[in-house]
Amino acid sequence: MTKMSAFVVLVVVVAVINVGVNGYVANRFNIKKNIKLYSTSTDVVTASGVSIIDDVPEEGTMFKSPAFKFFDFLLSIPILHDVLFGVYRKQTVEKAEKLGLKWTEFMNDQWNSLNTLKSYASELNNVNTKIPDYFYATIHAYKDGNLCWESALEEDLWSKLMIAPLYNNALDGDVQMRSKWLSITKRAIDKTDLKPKYATDLGCGTGLSMYMLESRFPSLESMTGIDLSTYKLAVCENKRRNEVPNGDKYKLFHAPAEASPVASNSQDIACLCLVAHESPEWVTQSIFKEAHRILKPGGYFTMLDLDKENLEVLLRNPFVAAIYKRTEPYMGEYIKLNTRKELENLGFEISEVDSASRSHKVYVAKKL
Ligand SMILES: C[S@@+](CC[C@H](N)C(=O)[O-])C[C@H]1O[C@@H](n2cnc3c(N)ncnc32)[C@H](O)[C@@H]1O
Repeated sequence: MTKMSAFVVLVVVVAVINVGVNGYVANRFNIKKNIKLYSTSTDVVTASGVSIIDDVPEEGTMFKSPAFKFFDFLLSIPILHDVLFGVYRKQTVEKAEKLGLKWTEFMNDQWNSLNTLKSYASELNNVNTKIPDYFYATIHAYKDGNLCWESALEEDLWSKLMIAPLYNNALDGDVQMRSKWLSITKRAIDKTDLKPKYATDLGCGTGLSMYMLESRFPSLESMTGIDLSTYKLAVCENKRRNEVPNGDKYKLFHAPAEASPVASNSQDIACLCLVAHESPEWVTQSIFKEAHRILKPGGYFTMLDLDKENLEVLLRNPFVAAIYKRTEPYMGEYIKLNTRKELENLGFEISEVDSASRSHKVYVAKKL
């Protein structure tokens, strides 16, 4: 190839990627809701009389188009992948700082406390916990997925930055979204006599959802956080010791959410927040089973995760789909998951299905 034709190819590739990146960034959460996701949707009225749309996914869609395959191929080229995500990361930090999120300062503080975090990580590390193969996947463009300090230290920043656009760029958008999740959960529980005392958060991460539980359920006496990442658990532990009111009510365990050390029939609430879209379908099914095991009869499972309708719209853009495949490797599996059916088959009764934001869905189900 002559130098000139090599240059032309490079320019075309960079232009395509640039258009795609801009589309991805712009579309990430600003989603039009006028396109139907799945071919079979059923209107369901819950026992409480709430009308819900329960979507059943159509097999395979977005990952089959030639355009997707083309972008997927481009992103499989390490140098292009690294350049693209390098640019995206740089733009992200700039965008965050413009919004008033002090990304660099926050990260510097975190890195400065790394020795303390490392000591928490080794205290919490359970040598008997075997990390399953699926958990080594590259997630959110971190090569080591959830098993590295970068992903743990940046978790709260990403949560703020990604959810802000849903709330007119308000930096507490993630708190508003989680508050809505808790309101929906409380709405279901308040219809019963249950005064929850024990809650477990499966895949608690840095505790963003778990540490909000008590604000809505002040009767809670003991909360358990489960996570496979000692990095995330260390950040969670740091908050527990230094920031969280009633930190001594929380216990953290390094374990798979699908095989937790929590006793059977012991919990009033089991949460699964933003974990299912990061998990193979069989793992989410196993976690549902585990939630059923640890809940008391009459206890509630509550799940917050991405709204599949929005996802389907996003993923119709082949470039976005290719990016998602690299950053959220199990998204296709999540889309296949039929949450309602899986929960009902296990012996849950669906109490609420509602939106926590225009991109997030909540399922609340009672263990019969
Ligand atoms: C996106 S974060 C969500 C964290 C938290 N639930 C929240 O609402 O912010 C997903 C978390 O789930 C954890 N996770 C994913 N699969 C898991 C599994 N099978 N068992 C335990 N933790 C898991 C990850 O390590 C990560 O901390």
